[in-house]
Parts: sequence; structure tokens; C-alpha cells
Amino acid sequence: MDKFVIRGGEPLVGTVRVSGAKNAALPAMAAAILTEEPVILENIPDVRDIQTERRLLEAMGGEVELGYGRAHHRTTICMRNLAAPEASYEIVKTMRASTLVLGPLVARTGRARVSLPGGCAIGARPIDLHIKGLEQLGAKITVEHGYVEAAADRLKGGEIVFDKITVTGTEDLMMAAALADGQTVMQNCAREPEVADLAALLNKMGARIEGAGSATLRIQGVPKLKGARHRIIPDRIEAGTFIVAAALTGGDLIIANCDPRHLTFTNKLQECGVKISHTGDSVRIQGDNPLQGCDMTTEEFPGFPTDMQAQFMALATQAEGSSIITENIFENRFMHAGELVRMGANIKIEGRRAIVRGKTPLSAAAVLASDLRASASLVLAGLVADGETIIDRVYHIDRGYERIEEKLRAVGAAIRRIGEMLPKRPALVGS
Ligand code: EPU
Repeated sequence: MDKFVIRGGEPLVGTVRVSGAKNAALPAMAAAILTEEPVILENIPDVRDIQTERRLLEAMGGEVELGYGRAHHRTTICMRNLAAPEASYEIVKTMRASTLVLGPLVARTGRARVSLPGGCAIGARPIDLHIKGLEQLGAKITVEHGYVEAAADRLKGGEIVFDKITVTGTEDLMMAAALADGQTVMQNCAREPEVADLAALLNKMGARIEGAGSATLRIQGVPKLKGARHRIIPDRIEAGTFIVAAALTGGDLIIANCDPRHLTFTNKLQECGVKISHTGDSVRIQGDNPLQGCDMTTEEFPGFPTDMQAQFMALATQAEGSSIITENIFENRFMHAGELVRMGANIKIEGRRAIVRGKTPLSAAAVLASDLRASASLVLAGLVADGETIIDRVYHIDRGYERIEEKLRAVGAAIRRIGEMLPKRPALVGS
């Protein structure tokens, strides 16, 4: 198991490029299930979750080519042979987004068998809204032995009103409705840019989806979808993580290849004193001014994303005054707080609220990454801590950040990856 070693105190200076969005790439890959023709996706991030999805599609009988060399970051997926329309527990347990294949499988093949995801480090991850929506489209669903089984000769368009906003739920049902008979109207949909990106891909494949990016989607089902070529949007959470890194270290960083329209959370960072300017597809952070604490509540897009909450907490530890952080989306997403406290932060958790009192100097420690975004907050804390921070279980960060240590090192951070130490050789005993 790899670890990161970070020596804090180096300002980040230069230009860092953002990769494609993991959370847009995963549903886009699942969308390839909807057609027999090849789907070509560009700007695919080189992260572990993409490898997991590749395994998932291959296990169903698909051909997934991940590009190398000049074609790096491109994938061609052909799901002509869909021998086994299922997602096993082995894969779903490592990546909950695997449930995104449920809707496309039943829409294309008339049946699907997908493991229930269960909970994870950030809280319960139910899929009741995916199931309810598919039933609304006429699928017969049974849940047995930890698996959801869905069957339908052909899905039929219907009315879906989500009780709660769900990102992958909206994506899953949008894919199912694209191949259903007749029109589907979906209300209270997620408005995240990743949802709109999926709609753009599906429309290139021949789907008829209107309203992407708004709370109401109108989908006129079509009998067949075709192959397409699509470029995945940049990762707004990776961009946000670099913004916080630059602000914390007092650097001067240009974050290139991002879409500033998606970075709706920058208002809140500016309220904390982060100096941000936009030009075209890049943002520049000049981190030479003091930070002040402010309150933040996570919300669905365009509110402050839960996927930036842990990074915001790292920032708040270095801001003057108190910041009250309220986590509204997941019930257990403060695992990083305990590790930040071990590094010297003053954080109190009260249910869904974290109260951070700053500014407290951080001192390097050995810490444990518990989930993807929690790991990012520990890296950020390590960048400003006094001494050498060692972060264990960085496989969590590799799920969603493309070689973060190389990108950070290229702009001045003192960070390196080390493999697990081998156990000491037992001393030879003389005969
Ligand atoms: N929910 C239900 N029932 C459902 C589905 C969701 O009650 O059927 C609840 C969840 O328990 C949660 C809330 O609704 O409280 C929102 O969950 P959502 O379904 O929106 O989350 P998700 O689709 O499983 C995606 C991202 C997450 C991100 C959330 C929220 C992908 C692959 N994952 O998850 O990303 O945190 O939306 O924005 O798009 C990450 O990248 O680190 C990550 C966890």
C-alpha cells in the first residue's frame, strides 16, 4: 500500500492542468451499454475508478480499450456482446457508482442484476430512488440475496418525481428513459454539470433529452442509440482542490483546462479571502492575503459541493476566526476531522456540523486516509504542516485524482509516493 510523504511549507507556483471529471466519465462509460456501436470518450482521467469501471464492462462481455501514448486519456467502448448483464458485489463494493449500469442494462437487454451497494465511509448509499424510478418506467424489480434484479420487455416512458435530489439516480434513469417507449418527464433532477455532460453524450448518440442542467428533464424515448465521440468535461473538484492548495500555501498558481462556469463554489472561497481571477479556461490564485473563517453548508449544485467539504475544512483550519461547516448531503462525511485534529486543528463535531476555530499551526503527523475527498484534505493539510506528514492508504486518493503527487510536485510541493516498506529480514541465526 502506497503512502505519501509531504514536507509542508512550500508555496505552489506555476501552472497545473486539470484532468477530465471522474464523475462525468463514469456515467459516460455506462452509457456505452445503450448501444451496439463503439462509443469514443476523450479526456478520460487516468484514475483507479475508471479501471474499475473498465473491469465491470469487460465482465459483461464488453470491449474496452484504454488509450496509451498519444491516445492517452481516450477510451473506446464497444458493448456489442452483452453476455452477462450484471454487476457483481466484488466490483460494486469497491465503487458504488457501479450501480449506474442498472438503468442502461435493463433498457438495452430487458434485464439486469446489480449488487446493492450498502454503506461506505461517507454514509449510507441507498439506491431506493433508482429502483422506484425504474418501476415507474415499468420494470419489475426484486431485491434478493443482496442483489437488485430488474426485468422489462421494454421500458415505458412515465413521470418520475425524485423525493430527494440524486446525481447518479438522475443519470441512471435518464439513460433508461432514453431507450423507453414514449416520453418521460423527470422532476427534481440533479443539476450538476456531470448530469448535463451525460445528456450531451446521449443526445450525440441519438437520444432526445431536453432540459439538462435544470431540475426538469424531458426525454422522448427512441428505439435505438448509435455510437458517438464525446469529450468529458474538466474535473471541477480537482480544480477546487488545487485552488485550496494554492490559497493555503500562499502560492501563485494557474489552474488550466478547467471550466470556470462549473466552479460555483469559488464565491465561498473568495468570502474566506482567497484571491481568484478567471481567464478563459483557467483560474489564477494569488494566495498572498490572510484567510478568514466563514460558515459553509453543502448543497446540491449550484450550492457548495459535498465533494469540496473536506478541502474547505483544511482551509478553515488556517483561517482566522471560526467557521461552521454543515454537511447536508451525507451523514458521515467528517472522517478527516479527527486526522486534522491530530495535526493540530481545533475542530468540534456536533452531528452534521463541524466547528473549526482557526488559525492553528499544523504539525506533521502520520495520518490515515479514509475516503477520496478526506485524503485530499490531508494532502492539503500536509502542504502547510510543519515537518513531514505521512499519509497512509493513498489508494483512496488514486480512485479519483490523477497522479496528484506528480502534479503538485511540478508546481513546487515537496511530496513523494513511497511503496510499503518491506518487513525486516529476520536475523540469520548461526548453526
Ligand atoms: N440517496 C437516497 N436514495 C437514493 C440515492 C441517493 O436516499 O436512491 C441520498 C444519498 O444517501 C445522499 C443523497 O441522496 O444522502 C445524495 O446522493 P447522490 O445519489 O446524489 O450521490 P451519488 O450519486 O451516489 C454522486 C457522486 C459523489 C458525490 C454525490 C453528491 C458520482 C459517481 N458520485 O454520488 O461523488 O459526493 O453525487 O454530489 O457521481 C466523490 O467523487 O468523492 C463522490 C463521493
